[in-house]
Amino acid sequence: MTLLKIARLGHPVLLARARPVGDPTAPAIRKLAADMIETMRDAGGIGLAAPQVHESVRLVVALPIASREESRAVEPLVLVDPELVPLDGGSEEAFEGCLSIPGLRGLVRRARRVAFRALDLAGRTVEGEAEGLFARILQHELDHLEGVLFPMRMTDLRSLAFESELRHPLADDSFRATTPGGEGDRG
Ligand code: NI
Repeated sequence: MTLLKIARLGHPVLLARARPVGDPTAPAIRKLAADMIETMRDAGGIGLAAPQVHESVRLVVALPIASREESRAVEPLVLVDPELVPLDGGSEEAFEGCLSIPGLRGLVRRARRVAFRALDLAGRTVEGEAEGLFARILQHELDHLEGVLFPMRMTDLRSLAFESELRHPLADDSFRATTPGGEGDRG
């Protein structure tokens, strides 16, 4: 396996709409998925989308976790040509980060529950429901396939902050309701 270079904010691949994978059983796709998992783990991420490693295809890896503490023990999910549907359950705000925007975090509102469907590397259908952090990870990673980065989802850029500064209380009370740092996606 190979550690891949992660594209950072400003690289055009992050703003492009990714193309369908086609054959999920192709050896090149299997290798890409394995390399993405290794790269995500090495970088301390909890999700990664192929455009973040300069491959503009609809492939993501994501940890099906309810909290960051579980991230070491859980096997990543590989999702080929994934689709999401928001479910009832409303939305919630939490801090997110992104391996393509190192050091920065910001509050993003996401659906609390989603249903997902994709193919696995054997070409079988994978489907399920996700909520909380896992639902947030899926929404963040699928945004990458549309060329959307988390700051483009923020409604109040005042919460955009370097992670190392989030130990300071934020001036606006509305930001204090959410725990900074711990729960957010970094994918
Ligand atoms: Ni990301």
